[in-house]
Amino acid sequence: MRFFSNLGGAPVIILVYIPQFPLGSQDQAERDRLDFKCTGAMQSAAALAQNICLLAYERGLGTCYMTGPYFVRQAVNQAVGVTERELVAVIPIGYSDQQPPAPPRKENVIQWIGFAQSSHDPLGAVPVQMD
Ligand SMILES: Cc1cc2nc3c(=O)[nH]c(=O)nc-3n(C[C@H](O)[C@H](O)[C@H](O)COP(=O)(O)O)c2cc1C
Repeated sequence: MRFFSNLGGAPVIILVYIPQFPLGSQDQAERDRLDFKCTGAMQSAAALAQNICLLAYERGLGTCYMTGPYFVRQAVNQAVGVTERELVAVIPIGYSDQQPPAPPRKENVIQWIGFAQSSHDPLGAVPVQMD
């Protein structure tokens, strides 16, 4: 909770926003179109946020990818003067004062099913036998 309140004392905070999409339309086709655009924007923002974290790490900086501040988004938006945008991520950046150990990897989250064998396969990849 302390980290949430002071963002680790980070000297730089990056706020990631997407446009607002009015998803309440009565028209199903219009709702689907905006929902698709909103999902795309959200995925782009998430990829951006992760790339920022990876690049910062490569440069020796620590980050924390945070979505929790969504719950106080009105205060955040007001503090930085942003209107008509949806806050999706907050990324404090700074030099880490600790190097916590990596948590244990979760088993069986990714299933490798191999490459499809195809005469058009430019890599000449062959299927991988799964257990
Ligand atoms: C989408 C997303 C949202 C997160 N939001 C928060 C958050 O609000 N507060 C927080 O302390 N950590 C949050 N985390 C977790 C930290 O970013 C986490 O320490 C980081 O993802 C490293 O993952 P690891 O602990 O599994 O190595 C979030 C992670 C993700 C992927």
